[in-house]
Amino acid sequence: MRRKLRRRFGGWQFNISYQEDKVVKTPKSWFQTVLTVLPQKPFLILNQDFMREIERVRSETRYSLKGIQERNIDRSMLANLSFEDDKIIQDRVDLVIDVLEEKNIRDQQKIIDDYFDFVHGTWRQGFHERTYNFTINHGYNIGDELVLIAVGELTFDKETVLSQLKNRKWEDQFSYSKHLSKELKNYFDEKAAEYLTEQKLDEHWKRSFIK
Ligand SMILES: Nc1ncnc2c1ncn2[C@@H]1O[C@H](COP(=O)(O)OP(=O)(O)OP(=O)(O)O)[C@@H](O)[C@H]1O
Ligand SMILES: [Mg+2]
Repeated sequence: MRRKLRRRFGGWQFNISYQEDKVVKTPKSWFQTVLTVLPQKPFLILNQDFMREIERVRSETRYSLKGIQERNIDRSMLANLSFEDDKIIQDRVDLVIDVLEEKNIRDQQKIIDDYFDFVHGTWRQGFHERTYNFTINHGYNIGDELVLIAVGELTFDKETVLSQLKNRKWEDQFSYSKHLSKELKNYFDEKAAEYLTEQKLDEHWKRSFIK
């Protein structure tokens, strides 16, 4: 059952409109992205990195969406994503960050368990969410299953996943560093040591085939 109907607004890539059970994401123009990023990173405008950063994010999103479109990925893991012209339609979910807020530690740990199981599930489908920002990039659907909503930051390349595992990429990301209590971080670390390993990657990874 849905617990919250919080509306958060778009990030760098999409304007979000909410329907009762669905969300519609319309790609932002280059200019709209600039207007979104400027208040967050005003210092960037002072150097050329600003334009480069925006172009990098836009091209990563193109790569990610194209990758989904041309592969037989289980779309239920992506909140039943469908494409309609340039729009993306998805089931509306409760973001992990909002669900975490209202749970006790034991239930919060279960959310982390769900996340790690989900990561292995994506590996079996041949994709991976590169940012590890699971608190805002994943949510619970109406059937209480964890799904991925941010579809602009995927890789389909096992070597990229492996190099992230070696660098322990999640530790630099704000979901881990800012959204977890000390106790939950410890729990996350324990699970990461078990789940985010080269051996598990080899065990679960299945290359996806282009249709
Ligand atoms: N399926 C969904 N259900 C509920 N809320 C959603 C859903 N998809 C997106 N949102 C809300 O809209 C925000 C922005 O969505 P999303 O992360 O997909 O776009 P973006 O941040 O512009 O793109 P990207 O993360 O690929 O750069 C999310 O952080 C979330 O709050
Ligand atoms: Mg986002």
